[in-house]
Amino acid sequence: MQNKQTILKSAGIIGVGKALPDKIVTNEDFVKLGLDTSDKWITERTGIKERRIAEPGMGTADLAVKAGQAALDNAGLTPQEIDLVIVATTTPDYPLFPSTACLVQDRLGIKKVGAFDVSAACTGFNYALTTAAQFIGTGFAKNILVIGADCLSKYVDWTDRSVCILFGDGAGAVVVSEVSEGYGILASDLNANGAEGDILITKGGGSKKPFSAEMLKDKSHFVFMNGKALYKVVINSIIPTIENTLKKVNLTSKDIDYMVPHQANLRIIEYARKKLGLKKDQVYINIQKYGNTSSASIPIALAEAVSLGKIKEDSLLLSVGFGGGFTWASNIIRWGGIKKG
Ligand code: COA
Repeated sequence: MQNKQTILKSAGIIGVGKALPDKIVTNEDFVKLGLDTSDKWITERTGIKERRIAEPGMGTADLAVKAGQAALDNAGLTPQEIDLVIVATTTPDYPLFPSTACLVQDRLGIKKVGAFDVSAACTGFNYALTTAAQFIGTGFAKNILVIGADCLSKYVDWTDRSVCILFGDGAGAVVVSEVSEGYGILASDLNANGAEGDILITKGGGSKKPFSAEMLKDKSHFVFMNGKALYKVVINSIIPTIENTLKKVNLTSKDIDYMVPHQANLRIIEYARKKLGLKKDQVYINIQKYGNTSSASIPIALAEAVSLGKIKEDSLLLSVGFGGGFTWASNIIRWGGIKKG
């Protein structure tokens, strides 16, 4: 748990956007592909009915650029008004460089300002949002484009039924700027435990085990997941991070108006909802349409919840994420307070 900090300027979300590939893969499509699975199994264990998949040739930056432009439009800002770009992703277009943030900076016509990627798997958006809040808080930047974008479908073994059915591709984006006092990101909590890194890991293709013919045979370039172990770790960490964040601003779960959780498994979301005493209509769920889109899942859900009017001026919003690393984090946000002009 991090110490309470002195906030110089309040940082809040002033625009949201999303982008998803057109191609839909349903649970039934996996059965048609010859996978030993069923719509019933996937629906009951995960809540997923379908996911969007990036076509060959489409990369993470293609989706990130679209979501970023949508967030700029929603905020009523031009690319020229952005002075920092942060992209949360673990599936960059290029394994080393340039970063996805650099591609976004160029393709959106943003000035030659700082641009960097944040790597925290499915917790990436919470990490990036918290990072952006510090840059606004200190006055380093005025308007930051924060994007969560991933194409994990490119890194799963489409014959491994325990993993490939879980993930989808997409991007979500927000513009973070100074907002009125009392609004914006009120508190954040970031956590990591590298000792649990091997429960969700891609062993091949990095500096430890570079690309080789052997790697292609042993399939170590694909995502490996110990689903059962991961489930337990998530269940043990999700409520403590929320409580830590609430405690920092002397609030309790009773104060939460709306929750936008990472969409990895409907059973995990339901567990958190019940523990927090929230009603069903206080939680945004779109896992049935998109599966787990990793760092994109929270900003996509946020964009949809805002456009549906679920989150309004003054709403107290909870966002919670968890994923590979193992990482977990949460943010408490008082929605609104946008400064005019
Ligand atoms: N279709 C049908 N059967 C499947 C299957 C599929 N797609 N995937 C696995 N199975 C089988 C297993 O082989 C196993 O069979 P067995 O009992 O004969 O050995 C059985 O179903 C149970 O598998 P198990 O892994 O124990 O299922 P589970 O109830 O733990 O559910 C997950 C699997 C992945 C849905 C669940 O563990 C989970 O959600 N974990 C957390 C994942 C997560 O959050 N990941 C992202 C973090 S960002």
